[in-house]
This record gives sequence, C-alpha cells and structure tokens, in this order.
Amino acid sequence: MHQFSYIDGDLHCEEVNLEEVAAQFGTPSYVYSAGTIRGNFQRLDRALQPLDHLICYAVKANSNIAVLDLLAREGAGFDIVSGGELFRVLKAGGRADRCTFAGVGKTAHEISYALQEGVYCFNVESEAELVRINEIAGSLGIIAPVAVRVNPDVDARTHKFISTGKSKNKFGIGIDRAADVYATAEALPHLRIRGIQTHIGSQILEAGPFAEAAGKLAALVSEIKSRHDIEFFSIGGGIGIVYDHALASGQPEWWTSTDHPHRITPEDYAAAIIPALAPLGLRILFEPGRFLVGNAGALLSTVQYVKSTPAKTFTIVDAAMNDLIRPALYEGWHEIVPLKESNGTPIPMDVVGPVCESGDFFAQDRALPPLAAGDRIALLSAGAYGFVMSSNYNSRPLLPEIIVDGSEALLIRRRQSFEDLIAGESIP
Ligand code: LLP
Repeated sequence: MHQFSYIDGDLHCEEVNLEEVAAQFGTPSYVYSAGTIRGNFQRLDRALQPLDHLICYAVKANSNIAVLDLLAREGAGFDIVSGGELFRVLKAGGRADRCTFAGVGKTAHEISYALQEGVYCFNVESEAELVRINEIAGSLGIIAPVAVRVNPDVDARTHKFISTGKSKNKFGIGIDRAADVYATAEALPHLRIRGIQTHIGSQILEAGPFAEAAGKLAALVSEIKSRHDIEFFSIGGGIGIVYDHALASGQPEWWTSTDHPHRITPEDYAAAIIPALAPLGLRILFEPGRFLVGNAGALLSTVQYVKSTPAKTFTIVDAAMNDLIRPALYEGWHEIVPLKESNGTPIPMDVVGPVCESGDFFAQDRALPPLAAGDRIALLSAGAYGFVMSSNYNSRPLLPEIIVDGSEALLIRRRQSFEDLIAGESIP
C-alpha cells in the first residue's frame, strides 16, 4: 500500500499536491510518505504477531535520519552494514542494543565503534571475522555478541545482482560448515554466541523461497540452540514490492486481490514462514528494507526537452542515473506518471537523463502520455535504494529529500550546492 494518488487531476502524496512540492523545493527531488512507511511497518508487525519478533529495518534501503527516527518511534530495531549507518541510527535516536551489524567486510574501526556503542549482535560472515571481533573485544575488555550468517543455498528467483543465498554468492557460511564455525566461536574467549542469521536476497515476490530457507535451516537452528543457548534467529529481509502498476497498487481492492502474480503481501509472507519458525522457540528477527520504504517514495523530475529522431522519441528530464541508478544497474522498472493527470493517447518514448552515457535512462520504449518541456513527472516506488545509491557523477549536486505527513511537506535534506561539491577538495 502507498499514499500516492490523483486528486482532482493532480498527483498527491497523502494530502499534499506534488506540483506544489516541486514548485517549492525544485526538481529533481525525492518525496516520501510518512503515513505509508508507518502503515507498512504496522501491517508487517501485525502479520508477525504470532512470533516473538523484532523488525530490524535494513537502513541501507533509505538512511535519511528522519526516516530512521520515524521507524524508531514505531518500535523498529535496525540492521546496519557500516559504521556510518550506526552513526545515523544513533543520531536519529535509535538504540544500539536494537541493532544487528551485517556485512562481509567489517573493518577493525567499525567493529570497535559498534562494540563500544553496544550493538545487539554482529552477524558474522567468515571465520577470519570471528577472530578479528574476538581480538578487538579482548583489547576493549568487552564480550562481543555474535551470530553466524548461514547461506542456505536457496534460489530466491530474483535479479542475479541481488540474490545472496546461493552457495556461489560471497555471503555467509555454507549450511554444512555452520556447526564447525559455531564450535570455533564457542572456543574464542571474548565472544558470546547470541543467534543465527540468514538472508537469501532482495525483491523476492513469492513466499516459496522464504519458506524453503526457513524449512532448510530449522534443523540446524534447533541444533545450534541446544548446543549454544542462542536467543534469536534472523531470517533476513527481501520481501519484494510492486513496481509495475505501482499507482494502482495503492488502491485497497487491487492490493487485496489474489490474482496478481507480482506481489507478496505481509500476510502471505507470514503464513509461509510461521509454521517453520514458531516451533523454534526463539526470538525471530526480520530485516526488511524495501518493503517498508520502497513504495513510500517518488522521484520528481521536470521534462527539459523532447527530441524526436526517426528511431525514437526521447523525453529528456532533469533527473539522471546518478540520482536513481536502479534502471541502469538492475534493469529496474519504475512506473512513470505525469503530475498532471493526462487523457492523452500514450506514445512510445525513452525517458532519459542528461548524463553522457547510454545507460542513463529511466524507461525505454515505454508508452506514456505525450509530455512537453516543463511538464513534471514522478518516478514511483523510488523510496528504497533510490537516494541512498545516488552519487555526484557529472558533478550533479545530491537531491533534496522531503517527507510528507498528512497535509505537511517538510524538507529533511537540503539540495547540495555547488560549494558542497568541492567541500573537502584542495589544490596542492
Ligand atoms: N538484510 C541483509 C543482510 C541484506 O543484505 C539486505 C539487502 C537486507 C536485509 C534488506 O533487503 P530488502 O528487504 O530491502 O530486500 N540495491 C538493490 C537491493 C540490494 C539489497 C542488498 N541487501 C536494489 O535496488 O534492488
């Protein structure tokens, strides 16, 4: 569910007219719906009620401190992957003792920072990392809480760049080696074994792979529990969202219909995994990122030029691949809608940015209502892995972020200036 819809012909986010947001804050710009994020969190939390559980929001999906603050107030914990993300969580009023720290390459500096702040658990991905955490904990006189990330060798049936639970991926410890790695951890004096973790991938649109992972790991989790007295099992993140028909998916009837293949509801997800997870008698952690924030965001952009060649019509907009890289990197598909509702007959076009690369497109051969210079559009479902993956490529300033809550639109990150672009640089 989300709260983007046309009201009297103008696209709104909650009660706010996005034409007004574009006029006030300029384009390109990111807009998020606070109500959608809260609604998604509450709906998932409710579906998981049968389990003793904690939702640890995957900060990487959208790490603006206003978003983190909102989720902390809802009762979320956080799944972090860097010292920078921990810093953000703490600045936003989140608690370190509700943070899990994931990732294959934690540096000594990040480990020591997280230990001193008291994170709930390190999700460890190799024996070398266990040894490093043990050493640093010893030098600080702290006992480090650890879990091992187990790779269940399950096919998440998603894009190859975001599938993580196959044995050929760089993540985790193979299921057959996990018990040995736990024995290694047990023998290290400055570690305390706290849990077990897995994550099979992202943008997963079927419940099957989650059920398969939970089923495949249940016996191992019970064995580790009996040997090491663990308190949690984290099943990771990965719940997929609707990208096509994103606007329609905000409508309650559409969302609850059961015949659309491209969506998984929190209730489907919960029903698939609870049977395997409930009997474990452990606290179950979840690490959703995209599900909570993806459909809650849009990237607003203004058409600069329309260029027709014998081959194609190019609609050139002021946003670019540096602002939203998902189409270029993962062939990601984002619905594009005009801010002014249009009855024009759709024509095929490429929607492209100004960056000097052929990969700088948002849509190719997409049928959209005719657009002219000055028209504004929204790229939907851009709340997850949107702003956070942006860069200054082509010396383009990072975009502003705006959060809408009811009838209010508030700036939560200002647009970078040209001065910001060179801050920190010097000529020797
Ligand atoms: N937990 C771990 C250990 C992860 O690696 C990830 C995502 C998550 C949780 C959250 O997954 P989610 O619920 O958001 O699917 N940039 C890509 C997605 C990369 C996902 C990386 N790991 C994209 O734009 O599609």
